[in-house]
Amino acid sequence: MTTYITTPIYYVNAQPHLGHAYTTIVADTYSRFRRISGEDVRFQTGTDEHGDKIAEAADKEDVAPKEYADRISGMFRDTWPILQVEPDNFIRTTDADHIAVVQEILQNVYDKGDIYFDEYSGLYCRGCERFLTEKELVDGNCPDHQQPPQEIAEQNYFFRMSKYQQQLINHIKANPEFITPERYRNEVLSFLSEPLEDLCISRPKTRLTWGIELPFDENFVTYVWFDALINYLTGLGYPDGEKYEKFWPVAEHVIAKDILKPHAIYWPTMLLSMEVPLYKKLHVHGYWNVDNTKMSKSIGNVVRPKELVEAYGIDTLRYFTLREMSFGLDASFSSEAIVSRKNSDLANDLGNLYSRSLAMLQKYCNGVVPAPQQEGGNDKQLAEIAEKMLAAYTKNMETFQFHRGLKAVWELVSYANKYIVTNEPWALAKDEGQRPRLETVLYNLAECLRLLALVLKPVMPETADKMVAGLGIAADDASVNLLAVGGAWNVLNPGTVLQKADPLFPRVDVKQHMGKDEKKSDTSKKEKKKANKSVPANAEGLITFEQFQQVEIRVAEVVAAEKIKKSDRLLKLTVKAPEERTIVAGIAEHYAPEEVVGLQVLIVANLKPAKLMGIPSQGMVLAAKTEVDGETRLVLATVSKPVAVGSTVA
Ligand code: ME8
Ligand code: MG
Repeated sequence: MTTYITTPIYYVNAQPHLGHAYTTIVADTYSRFRRISGEDVRFQTGTDEHGDKIAEAADKEDVAPKEYADRISGMFRDTWPILQVEPDNFIRTTDADHIAVVQEILQNVYDKGDIYFDEYSGLYCRGCERFLTEKELVDGNCPDHQQPPQEIAEQNYFFRMSKYQQQLINHIKANPEFITPERYRNEVLSFLSEPLEDLCISRPKTRLTWGIELPFDENFVTYVWFDALINYLTGLGYPDGEKYEKFWPVAEHVIAKDILKPHAIYWPTMLLSMEVPLYKKLHVHGYWNVDNTKMSKSIGNVVRPKELVEAYGIDTLRYFTLREMSFGLDASFSSEAIVSRKNSDLANDLGNLYSRSLAMLQKYCNGVVPAPQQEGGNDKQLAEIAEKMLAAYTKNMETFQFHRGLKAVWELVSYANKYIVTNEPWALAKDEGQRPRLETVLYNLAECLRLLALVLKPVMPETADKMVAGLGIAADDASVNLLAVGGAWNVLNPGTVLQKADPLFPRVDVKQHMGKDEKKSDTSKKEKKKANKSVPANAEGLITFEQFQQVEIRVAEVVAAEKIKKSDRLLKLTVKAPEERTIVAGIAEHYAPEEVVGLQVLIVANLKPAKLMGIPSQGMVLAAKTEVDGETRLVLATVSKPVAVGSTVA
């Protein structure tokens, strides 16, 4: 099986931003997903370099169009490795072989009689370099340039698009998957219910020279779309070659809704005229807005991918964009939204599952994956949920429903976290008779992590690699690279030796984030700056939701307590949260040790460990401070009903 996936080729009149990054991350993720499904994949992106806009931008900087195009095209090319995007081909419309193929196709379509010469008259705006309609004018002027357009009668070449209208309608109706999501298919069909006009495909050289010369008239160049769309074929070595035969029949294009018409109408009618089979699928997504406002240079809210990677990390960016946008609909970017996904889905859910599981495997099994021996508890449900996840993941990745695919993956993540709490490995570890059960539970957790690494690899390649390395599995092992092999349960080999594992998504230190530390990382500075912008009340000492989310509060049960010698103030508590921790608390003047044992208290669970009177303390207990008879009293904060230990407080 083969897959050919393309992005639009981007105009070089602007630098890469979040919108370009999204489409390209989507295509990259899909290509990686198809590869782990065992397919032979080709993934192409590139740049669109001809036309007025580019000639104009070059002129402004006083450089030749080609020199300008080289520079911006280079910026796109250099952005992709930063985003862990790995295309197989990067095409430029200024490539000599592309130009040759465009001319060959123009000649064939012309010889066939599908291109004709005609006079077109209309209202032309020099500033806009295009024809305006009467409707667009304001008081007879171009609204952008405040000048009356010129009445121009210009001779140009036209493509007989109307000739293929009915054939295209028939094709769309017969192939419901040709354009998805469905709303865009409907939009195209509704547009096609009116008669199509033919497409003007040329510009006289007197007006524009930065284009591909028509092979049958040297006084004209072809204009934008007839040049750009053909990139999808020239990148395969069309008209001959093995690649064309292998990949064209399975071509899938990803675009945003801005260029729906050229892709859903111009391109298929061009292909019909060329007698080339139509592409297989067109996947159309919506726009990224920023803080609910359209991204634009003049508003100054254009988001650059490189800055996002620096601020949040590449895997957070990839996960966030795919999880946050429902493919087909618009989505809004904000620093609050990305930080919240990072802290809750990545650091808290996935990151904690990974670090807790590996820590227990180290502690109880000396870092060697045990063998499953004794099924029990909710083992069956865990395996079932893993299976369900795989089915939902595969279906949704195949149909570009990335947000749904990831939601399914997180159902397993969250069930696995619950599985730890309900099976209490720390309790099993205390009873030698429970050893087979303990080892089975820990095996299942390791197997969960392997499966998660496998399915997350297309979305977050770096994180998946880290997980695989921590589990001690070879990076090229089929069990973490191929759905056909790794998609089953009980695949991980007992006896695998775990490697030293770094945390997947280190949280920003709480203290740092509260601004009490002088040594701040660039990341936290940036996050803070962005967060502050949208919450002006910060100046009055309020914190943002994002800052609040940095603090992880959990319910812990006190299982033991003792006085610390030489201190009147401190008690040494042993709590379960759900893992066992020691917390040194300044409550000795307010509570006797026996009073606190058995209490469910609230702790800050993600404080950096500190030493008090030589005893390491892993967290902080929360207590209310009150005045009784002029004396300060501390009253421990508890929950109003018993809950599972380790429950988070939100
Ligand atoms: O149209 N949200 O190039 P282009 C989501 N050269 N995606 C966005 C976006 C946003 N706010 N802004 C841009 C062209 N995109 C032509 C294409 S193809 C044969 C020729 C993405 O630089 C999205 O993929 O204007 C959109 O379709 C594309 O960039 C437009 O890029
Ligand atoms: Mg555009």
